[in-house]
Amino acid sequence: MTFPVEFIRQLAGAKRVTVLTGAGVSAESGVPTFRDAQTGLWAKFKPGELATPQAFRRNPRLVWEWYDWRRKRVAGVQPNPAHLALAEMERLFPHFHLITQNVDGLHQRASSRNVIELHGNLTRTKCFDEGTIISNWPDTGEIPPKCPNCGGLLRPDVVWFNEPMPEAEMERAIEASTHCDIFFSIGTSAAVYPAASLPYEALRSGATTVEINPEPTPFTEDAHFAFAGAAGLVLPALLNRIRT
Ligand code: OAD
Repeated sequence: MTFPVEFIRQLAGAKRVTVLTGAGVSAESGVPTFRDAQTGLWAKFKPGELATPQAFRRNPRLVWEWYDWRRKRVAGVQPNPAHLALAEMERLFPHFHLITQNVDGLHQRASSRNVIELHGNLTRTKCFDEGTIISNWPDTGEIPPKCPNCGGLLRPDVVWFNEPMPEAEMERAIEASTHCDIFFSIGTSAAVYPAASLPYEALRSGATTVEINPEPTPFTEDAHFAFAGAAGLVLPALLNRIRT
């Protein structure tokens, strides 16, 4: 794979690099993207019918079981070459921020350290009523389990539709996007706000913007460089190129 010389020159000289990732980065690990049809047992539900506070109030058992299924699926897959390349890029640049919309924790499993999780993490659990993170609870066989502090229902610590972004993470994401030399948007449909505004924040702040996605997105035309390919192929090739 060849990259424009000007892009390689800029990347090699960059001190501050910020990356936004979406479901496409985990697709090659076998985690279905959010917009892909649900499979098997869950095919009859739309994600919007399962990933909302209203759905949880209506049928907490169904929503807990769906996340339990997703947790098990994620536990059974491995980080792919895209995750590994991003973890290595963190070591190459003095200021590197990885902002992700993914809730699967695969960036951390690939040993990325500085990860800003905009939509939470599937593997964490919190109390639906109080929002407190809960790591252990008595196994009474109830689904969902109950909060050991207040008796409320437990839920995954992810951001659902109709819920606000975690404020501290969003602030860090905006800071990282508006203070970088190069901004990458990788494996995201760039359609779900406010995360989708980050590439534009970077563009307005003078960063060179880059997209890696096999399909065009609303951001493709605006990016300085767009590479139409799978993240698991493009990122390792890029890493090789800047190491030589
Ligand atoms: P989407 O499912 O909307 O988009 C996945 C993107 O990945 C698409 O643009 C694909 O073309 C691209 N893609 C697929 N395979 C790829 C590969 N191998 N390499 C690179 N790109 C690839 O996922 P997100 O953009 O992450 O929010 O969706 C954003 C948010 O929308 C999710 O976090 C979720 C959802 O609603 C919440 O749950 C709050």
